[in-house]
Amino acid sequence: MPDGFATRDERAAFIAALPKAELHLHIEGSLEPELMFELAQRNNVAIPFASVEEVRAAYAFSNLQDFLDIYYQGMGVLHTEQDFHDLTAAYCARANADNVRHIEIFFDPQGHTERGIAFATVIAGITRALDDAGARYGMSSKLIMCFLRHLSEAEAEATLDEALPFLDRITGVGLDSSEVGHPPAKFERVFARARGLGLKIVAHAGEEGPPAYVREALDLLGVDRIDHGNRSLEDAALVRRLADEGMTLTVCPLSNLKLCVVNDIADHPLRTMLDAGLRATVNSDDPSYFGGYVNANYLAVANALDLSRDELVTLACNSFTGSFLDDAAKARHLAAIEACV
Ligand code: HPA
Ligand code: ZN
Repeated sequence: MPDGFATRDERAAFIAALPKAELHLHIEGSLEPELMFELAQRNNVAIPFASVEEVRAAYAFSNLQDFLDIYYQGMGVLHTEQDFHDLTAAYCARANADNVRHIEIFFDPQGHTERGIAFATVIAGITRALDDAGARYGMSSKLIMCFLRHLSEAEAEATLDEALPFLDRITGVGLDSSEVGHPPAKFERVFARARGLGLKIVAHAGEEGPPAYVREALDLLGVDRIDHGNRSLEDAALVRRLADEGMTLTVCPLSNLKLCVVNDIADHPLRTMLDAGLRATVNSDDPSYFGGYVNANYLAVANALDLSRDELVTLACNSFTGSFLDDAAKARHLAAIEACV
């Protein structure tokens, strides 16, 4: 196969050299156990683990809810503006090391405001680190505020109200947390208001939930991207529609493996998605919990599916095409990929 790789090292080097964007990353899910301990000590917060090894051993999940329970507990160590800065700065350094040139990251304000942390504190820490990453690495960034779908629409409305003074720093709104039983329809009105404010719209759909949730995200929320979207593949007409509309899917291979969305990485549907004409991208979701940042996600799925150079280039191009960058910036990044291959 002329387009293939002779060795895994060759494939890893090719992936590492590709300029990439990350479009599906929960900043709270990049909290590494070492920083969790440091912040627990800094803020005098008790955590139910004695060592970093014990924390990592607890990261064995059989579904999304298993993970979410420990994810919300983990973010409890985040208190001050400096904590949110340090969390975000650590992620930006890891992304830069993977040659990620642009990031569009999620944060979960309700996971903090419900613990008494001010919205302003969260946003100040995150944006200070993003600005630093722009200056240090030339990395561009956008911020997406997610509503927790296990909470009510009224609580999402209140969170959107709290965000109003900060809309110059927020590009979009998303929908995350426990999917099944909390369909997009539950949030139709708050997303309509967000659209009216000029915000971009994304939603987790089809991770554990059925294809009908993906259709609701399209029809009722008016999404610009679908986060995950795996279960769309069960509905051939939906797949054709997503392909025809050029809808971007932010796919997360190691997350899918750790949350048992796939039983084996060799069963991952990424190539099926590409072959169906879907604009799939590769992302890390919650890298501290799922075992790898962007390059590790590309490498795991590329090795398992024997992805070609062409397929890897398509994935990297999709990450910029599917971003919320303007056309000139997209063109610059696509030219950089072209130059690198
Ligand atoms: N799915 C839903 N909610 C989440 C996730 C996810 O993968 N990560 C953090 N919150
Ligand atoms: Zn996610």
